[in-house]
Amino acid sequence: MEKFRVGIIGCGGIAHSHMRAYTRRDDIEYVAFCDIVPGKAEAFAKEFGIEGAKIYTSHEEMLDKEQFDGVSVCTYNRQHAAPTIYALNKGVNVILEKPFAVTLDEAVEMRKAEKASGKILTVGFQPRFDKNMQQIKKIVESGELGRVYYIQTGGGRRRGIPAYTESFIKDDTAGVGALGDIGCYSLDMVLNAIGYPTPLTVSGFKTDFFGKDPETFRHRYGNPEHLAEIFSVDDFAGAIIRLEGGIVLDFRISWAMNMNTPGDTIILGTKAGLRIPSTDCWNGTVGGPMTVYRDCAGQSIEYQIPILKDGPKDGDLWDRKVGSFIKAVREGGTAPVPTSQIIKNQAIIDGIVRSSALGREVEITIPEV
Ligand SMILES: NC(=O)c1ccc[n+]([C@@H]2O[C@H](COP(=O)([O-])OP(=O)(O)OC[C@H]3O[C@@H](n4cnc5c(N)ncnc54)[C@H](O)[C@@H]3O)[C@@H](O)[C@H]2O)c1
Repeated sequence: MEKFRVGIIGCGGIAHSHMRAYTRRDDIEYVAFCDIVPGKAEAFAKEFGIEGAKIYTSHEEMLDKEQFDGVSVCTYNRQHAAPTIYALNKGVNVILEKPFAVTLDEAVEMRKAEKASGKILTVGFQPRFDKNMQQIKKIVESGELGRVYYIQTGGGRRRGIPAYTESFIKDDTAGVGALGDIGCYSLDMVLNAIGYPTPLTVSGFKTDFFGKDPETFRHRYGNPEHLAEIFSVDDFAGAIIRLEGGIVLDFRISWAMNMNTPGDTIILGTKAGLRIPSTDCWNGTVGGPMTVYRDCAGQSIEYQIPILKDGPKDGDLWDRKVGSFIKAVREGGTAPVPTSQIIKNQAIIDGIVRSSALGREVEITIPEV
């Protein structure tokens, strides 16, 4: 089989997960690595023992000079759009890290470039490849719940601001905090399960009480005063979102709060309800066995959906995420996690930011691409 020619743009934390998945395969040619920080891409290539690959500090130069079948865009959120659009314009397929973008406008521009190029742009939601996550969608699609009309989804952490890299907590690099970082997962879990209905309105808010407080960082990271000083994104967000089809979505997400959980995810349908135990969103699965609640001949009953385990040949979520991208490119398929869906996820995040700034409900309009 011909080698799949890969490039990595952004050689920070998560690029390691992409590389580990690539290096577990035997069909990859490493063409080039790029990071704007001089020396970083070179050190990254060395860490993985890759010889002969080109090293760049500019994604434009790398994409102008080299030929790729696909690139992993692993830059911080504010730098998702520029390299992705540049790569697509060069006819290169892209696997982009989550969240899709910071703003809806950026996501629309990426969709336009994707459409004009005819290439694949897939968004890196590895929980999509988790069997238990997939089970949620199967349960909804089976009709077991009847008509879904209300969803509460929440997840997040009691103390878990990812300040190990400053790029997560600064507005000029991350753009959004917990809302984008892990909120996008909670939203994807439930929106994907119900077929990604279009969001219509959102009333949302976000806060930064913990990120702005040095005490939050004191026993976890060095230089807590500095981290609190530069913290310029949200650490908690919530919203009521109206979706087409009369479905209401009640959402909350946390990097830090004085509570053990912001609540389980519940999906209420006319025939049954599904409870999905909340997680702290450090990984890509559900927080334990799910429970279905329903009536049977006049009695309230409930039963559990057992946790599904991976088989020895399944690989991990990253093998499946990266593998699905390569397979789609090789076979001329479609994006495994398509932007036609994730634009709705992004529109909600964008709507929460706007609503929070205005202090009132806002309408969501997603431009046709
Ligand atoms: N899927 C997951 O589980 C997961 C986990 C962590 C992070 N992420 C996502 O991955 C992205 C990166 O996170 P991270 O933890 O690796 O951050 P990071 O700060 O460790 O790495 C980002 C790197 O991108 C580089 N960079 C920025 N703009 C660039 C450009 N135009 N060209 C080349 N390099 C550029 C930076 O110098 C930095 O080295 C974020 O969007 C984050 O949300 C996903």
